Amino acid sequence: MKPKNGGVKIRNAMASDAPAVSALLKELGFPSTSREVTARLKAMRTSTLVAVRENQVVGLLTTDVMKVLHRPTAIGRLSALVVSQKQRGKGVGRALVEAAEQRFKKKGCALVEVTSNLRLEDAHSFFKRLGYEATSLRFKKQLHGVQHRATDI
Ligand SMILES: CC(C)(COP(=O)(O)OP(=O)(O)OC[C@H]1O[C@@H](n2cnc3c(N)ncnc32)[C@H](O)[C@@H]1OP(=O)(O)O)[C@@H](O)C(=O)NCCC(=O)NCCS
Repeated sequence: MKPKNGGVKIRNAMASDAPAVSALLKELGFPSTSREVTARLKAMRTSTLVAVRENQVVGLLTTDVMKVLHRPTAIGRLSALVVSQKQRGKGVGRALVEAAEQRFKKKGCALVEVTSNLRLEDAHSFFKRLGYEATSLRFKKQLHGVQHRATDI
């Protein structure tokens, strides 16, 4: 049977993906210029995966491996995840998350976690479909007076 995702390919983001990544981050509600994206891709330890279909970047997922004192194995963290509006519902999000899970396994992560805004109910349904369970509440607090440093871009 033909896969639902129609042959989407998942690979690590490259510097030349910056304009497409910038557009996807805007769709996610985090506008960043191509220049900022290029600088962050270079500076960050975070791994950025992109989904490519017919030579177009159609989705993005950033991931981190977090070592913690209280667990014997590292935790895989999914952070920014977005599929371009027209490409949703075609298996791209699943392909990105499953690729990240494979990478996490190779890095010794026995657990994957993601936080998702309470208003993103579609994303919650998506994660549940992929086998994720909701177990926690996220508490956040803004720390005021912190300036953007040149190195942060
Ligand atoms: C959430 C998002 C990444 C999902 O990507 P997608 O490519 O549309 O999802 P897929 O087509 O890969 O769906 C995978 C599975 O989840 C299911 N699913 C997806 N959205 C769903 C929904 N709203 N309700 C129920 N099931 C859903 C699909 O039916 C599919 O099931 P199947 O593989 O068993 O057939 C995408 O919709 C998106 O970019 N949303 C906006 C940004 C966002 O909310 N990001 C998450 C931040 S935490």
